[in-house]
Amino acid sequence: MAKFISTSREETEAFAAEYAKTLRGGDVVLLDGEMGAGKTVFCKGLAKGLGIVEEVTSTTYSYMNDYDGRLFHYDCYRIESVVQAENLGLADYFDMGGICVVEWSQNIAPLLPDGCKRVAIKKLSETEREIDY
Ligand SMILES: Nc1ncnc2c1ncn2[C@@H]1O[C@H](COP(=O)(O)OP(=O)(O)O)[C@@H](O)[C@H]1O
Ligand SMILES: [Mg+2]
Repeated sequence: MAKFISTSREETEAFAAEYAKTLRGGDVVLLDGEMGAGKTVFCKGLAKGLGIVEEVTSTTYSYMNDYDGRLFHYDCYRIESVVQAENLGLADYFDMGGICVVEWSQNIAPLLPDGCKRVAIKKLSETEREIDY
């Protein structure tokens, strides 16, 4: 795994925008990190890197936000069971040809496809983050 140290929100976004260029449709990226690590910030940068103009927001009321069919942003924090995730049809988006980014993927582990990529963000201080990818 490679490592990048970010010292600001903007740097994380810029890094994610570059990282986006390494992705292909159908890729599934598991985005790990504690609450407030910067997972959603990373996803915002990734969307910019893909040329998506719509602003990426935290998925407060849904478990998955669809940006143009090109980016599917999952936040599985509030998923309570795999059965619930299955009933919501969350696995359906993994093979729709877009890039999937999944926060709290451990909550839907049995539904994840093989060959997922992984990005882990660690909080080093208030403003510093270690990004392993
Ligand atoms: N280097 C950094 N990279 C990303 N976010 C940072 C950084 N430094 C401070 N932050 C702040 O940390 C918070 C990360 O929030 P968010 O992306 O919603 O976290 P998560 O989705 O992991 O819960 C934001 O308020 C952001 O401004
Ligand atoms: Mg988040």
